[in-house]
Amino acid sequence: MEIKALYTGSFDPLTCGHMNIITRAARLYDELTVGIISNPAKKAMFTVEERVDMVSEVLNGLENVKVGHFSGLLADYVNANGFNVVVRGLRATMDFEYELQMAHMNARLFHEDVETVFLMTDPKYSFISSSMVKEVHSLRGSIDGLVPDVILRRMDAVRK
Ligand code: COA
Repeated sequence: MEIKALYTGSFDPLTCGHMNIITRAARLYDELTVGIISNPAKKAMFTVEERVDMVSEVLNGLENVKVGHFSGLLADYVNANGFNVVVRGLRATMDFEYELQMAHMNARLFHEDVETVFLMTDPKYSFISSSMVKEVHSLRGSIDGLVPDVILRRMDAVRK
């Protein structure tokens, strides 16, 4: 059976921590979709269209990886698109409780053959979040090595 996996998040912006999960998940599954959520609860630096464009540019070359976007309930997107696996990255123990809660709630909502699978983020990136890189960058601190170069250039263009 072909396994279709989904890695979802706001990716505002995509960081090297996200890339670490994406490259590893792409090796594990036949097809991986990076599903970018348009989340009205979060004030975003980039529109969802800009994020799709940026992420697509970064991931160009990873053969079995696609980029999509959605709004609303994650489970609706998962069930409607026939994903078998939802990948989540864990950075530290602080992520665990929230992820456990979400995984249990989603398990009620997903079709029964869908599993949430956790990958440990490389410790090199376990301290970063999109908000933190945005804050440091906006204050002209260096975020070299924490976001892909394509993303850094787009962030620089917005800051100027
Ligand atoms: N490396 C670096 N940073 C990481 C990371 C990693 N491996 N994994 C997560 N992060 C960061 C993200 O950048 C994000 O930073 P930010 O808060 O500063 O933007 C933060 O950790 C939280 O990430 P995440 O939990 O993926 O949140 P999100 O907003 O990006 O996405 C959804 C969360 C999409 C999974 C969740 O909101 C959702 O499912 N929404 C749909 C509505 C729904 O179905 N709700 C019911 C859920 S039970």
